[in-house]
Amino acid sequence: MIYATKITGTGSAYPAKRVTNGDLTKRLAELDVQTSDKWIQARTGIQERRYSDLSNPKESNASLAATAAMRALEMAGKTALDVDQIIVATCSPETNLPSIACFVQRDIGAVNSWAMDINAACSGFVYGLVTASQFINTDQIRTALVIGSEVLHPYLNWYDRSSCILFGDAAGAAVIEQVPVNNESKILNWYLSSDGRYANHLHIPACCPQDGDDDSCQEKNHETGHIVMNGREIFKLAVRRLTKMALTVTDKEGLSIKDLDWLVPHQANQRILEAVAQRLEIPIEKVLVNLDRFGNTSSATIPTVLDEAVRQGRIKSGQTLLLDAFGAGFTYGAMLVRW
Ligand code: UT7
Repeated sequence: MIYATKITGTGSAYPAKRVTNGDLTKRLAELDVQTSDKWIQARTGIQERRYSDLSNPKESNASLAATAAMRALEMAGKTALDVDQIIVATCSPETNLPSIACFVQRDIGAVNSWAMDINAACSGFVYGLVTASQFINTDQIRTALVIGSEVLHPYLNWYDRSSCILFGDAAGAAVIEQVPVNNESKILNWYLSSDGRYANHLHIPACCPQDGDDDSCQEKNHETGHIVMNGREIFKLAVRRLTKMALTVTDKEGLSIKDLDWLVPHQANQRILEAVAQRLEIPIEKVLVNLDRFGNTSSATIPTVLDEAVRQGRIKSGQTLLLDAFGAGFTYGAMLVRW
C-alpha cells in the first residue's frame, strides 16, 4: 500500500433545545414514571441532552449532518466540490429512502461525490471511517466526508426510565484525505467486529407495512417503533469489549496502552468510561467526555467529542488517539489514529 488516510477536519452540530435531567423528571412524572436528577447523574453522568425541534427543517438528521459536514470542510480547508464520497452513519434517518447521505450531498452541493448511509448503530462512525479509508488507501478516491448523525429522541420509550434518560440528538463529521503511507499523521490501525447473537439486547422493533394498514401501530404497545434495551447486560459487555478492543488494536500496531494520549470512547455511561479506564490503567483525564452535556448520541458521540477536543486545542499534532465504540447489533469498532 502506498497511500494512507488522515483526518484533516472535524465538525459538529447540535439542536438548540437543552433538556436537563430536571426537565425530564417533570415530563416523566406526568406519565407517572419516576426518576430524578440525582439518580441520572449518579448512574450515568448525564446532566442534559439536546432534542431537535421536529418542525424545524434546520434540525432534521440530514440538516444537522450537513452543518457538521460544512464545519469539518472549513477546518480542512476544502470545499464541497473536493468531496469524492459521503458516508453517513445513522440509525435514526428521517426517511427510509433516500439515504441521509444523499440529502447531505444535495444540501452542501457536493456534486462530485457519491453518497450512502451505513447503520452500525453507535459504532457507525468508526465503521464509516474504516470503510471510507479503504477507498482512499486503494486510490479509488482522495477525499471523503464521514458523518455520524442522529435524531434519536422520537424513538424513546417514555415508559422505560432506564433508556429514555440516556439518548440525545447531534451530528459530528470528519473530512478524511489521502496522504503518502509514510506520513506521520494518519489512521494507524483498526479493528471491527459484530455479534448478532446479542441483537435483542438493544433494538427498535420496526413499524412495518407487514403489520397491516395501521397508522396507530406506535400505540399497540410502547415498544413498537421505540428503543428496547437490556441496560445491565449491555453495560457488562461494553466494559469487557471496549477494554479488549483497545488492547487488540494497540497490540496490532506494536504499541501499548501507555503510548496513548487520548481515549475517545463511545459516550454511553460515565461509569462505563471509568471502568474501561481503570481496566486499561489510563488516567481518567486522558478520556474525552461530552456525555454530561449531550447524553448518548449514538453514532455522533465519537465525532462530536473529537471535534470538541480538536477545537479546544487539547488534541495536538503527533498525539496518538484510540477511538473505541460499541453499539446495537452488537457492533464493535476501534481505531488508532496518529494526529
Ligand atoms: O449505546 C449503547 C446504549 N446503551 C447503553 O450503553 C446502556 C448501558 N447500561 C447502562 O448505562 C445502565 O445499565 C443503565 C443506566 C441503563 C441503568 O443503570 P444501572 O445502574 O445498571 O441500573 P439497573 O438497571 O441495575 O437498575 C437499578 C434500579 C432499578 O430499580 P430496583 O429494581 O432496584 O428497584 C431500576 O428500576 O434503578 C432503577 N432505575 C431508575 N431509577 C430512577 C432504572 N432507571 C432509573 C431512572 N431513575 N431513570
